[in-house]
Amino acid sequence: MIINSTQTGNFSKPAPEIIAEKLLTWFNPAARPMPWRTLDPEGPLPSAYGIWISEIMLQQTQVATVIPYWKRWMKTLPDISTLARAREEEVIKLWEGLGYYNRARNILKAARFICTHYKGIFPKHPEEIIALAGIGRYTAGAICSIAYNLPCPIVDGNVIRLLCRLYALSIPAATASSKTSEPIWQLSAELVQSADKIHHPMGCSFFNQAMMDMGATLCTPQSPDCNHCPLTKLCSAFQQGNPLDYPLRKSAPPLIRREDIALYCRDSKGRVLISRRPPGVRNHGFWQLPMLEEIKWEAAYHQFAKINLILGKGLLCKVSHNITRYQITVFLYPGQVDGKLSLDENLRFVSEEELKALPVTHSHRKLLKKMEEKLF
Ligand code: ADE
Repeated sequence: MIINSTQTGNFSKPAPEIIAEKLLTWFNPAARPMPWRTLDPEGPLPSAYGIWISEIMLQQTQVATVIPYWKRWMKTLPDISTLARAREEEVIKLWEGLGYYNRARNILKAARFICTHYKGIFPKHPEEIIALAGIGRYTAGAICSIAYNLPCPIVDGNVIRLLCRLYALSIPAATASSKTSEPIWQLSAELVQSADKIHHPMGCSFFNQAMMDMGATLCTPQSPDCNHCPLTKLCSAFQQGNPLDYPLRKSAPPLIRREDIALYCRDSKGRVLISRRPPGVRNHGFWQLPMLEEIKWEAAYHQFAKINLILGKGLLCKVSHNITRYQITVFLYPGQVDGKLSLDENLRFVSEEELKALPVTHSHRKLLKKMEEKLF
C-alpha cells in the first residue's frame, strides 16, 4: 500500500503516463545546461563515461561546484583507459576539494576493472553496472537511464520529496538506501516505465533528468515554486495546501565536538613539514601538517616528542569544519625538530611549489593559507 488515501481525500492517484508526458514537455526547454548533458532528442545519447563521472561527483555536491571539476577531469582523463593508467595520487588531486575521496578511489578501481573485463568500454547491462566499485542503486539507475535510455528507476532526496508531495505519502525523508524508500522505488519504476512507452527517442533519459531538475529547482525543500510546476494540478500536497509537510522530517542528531592539534614546522630552507594520512583512515593518502586527533596540548606534546618533534606553545591559528557528525576544530601550534627526525615517504619537508601539486586535506589547506598570510 503506497498511497495514503486518507490524506489524499477524494483525490485519485494520477495516471503515470500523464505525469511522464507532463514532465517530458516541461524538461525541454527547462533543463539546466550541464556539460555532460545532451538535450537534442534526435541527437546521440551522452557518453556513459561522462555520465558516470558526473553522477559520482554530484553525490553530496551541487551542480555548479561539479561543473569545473568535471571539465578538468574530462580534459585530463578523456577516456576509461587513460583513467585506468593514472596514478591514484593524480586522481585524488583532480578530486581535491570535492570531499568523500573514496568516491575517486572507487572510480579508479572500477576503471581498471572495466579495462580488464570489458576492454575499456563502459558496460551496458544494469547488473554489470551496479557491480562496479562505488556504484549503488541510484547511480546505476541514473547511468542506465541517462546514457542508455533504459527504463531504470532513480531515488534520491529530490525524488523522495517530489513523489511524497505528488502522492501525499506519509513516509519519512529517508535516505535512498533505506528500506522506507522502497515504495518510492516502486513509484519511480512505474513512472520511468510509462516514459519508456511514450513515443520519445529519449523518454527514460529525459524523464529521470526532469525529476532531478524538478526536485532541485521547483520542488525545493523550503520554498516549492508550485506556480511554475507542471504537476501542480495533479499534486496531492498542493491540493491539500501543505507541500512543506512532505516528506516527514527527521530531526538531525546533535554534532559531537572534537579538538585536534597540528604542528607547524619549517626547516632552514623554509620548507614545511607534512605527513601523509595512513591507509584505513578517512582521506587516506592525503597530506597534512603533522596532526593528532582528539587530544589536549599536554598529551600532544608527549606524543610528538616520541618522534622527536617539539610542540611549541602559543596558538598560531585554528580552523573549524564539520565532518559527518563531528564538529572539529584544529589548533595549530609552532613546532621544532629535536634530535634526529626520521623522514620517509610519509613524513617530509616540502617547498610551497611541491605542496601545490600534492593532495592536501581541505582544513589543512586553510591552515596553510592562514600561515602564508601571517608570514608574507
Ligand atoms: N543530481 C544528480 N544527478 C543529476 C543529474 N544528472 N542532473 C541533475 N541533477 C542531478
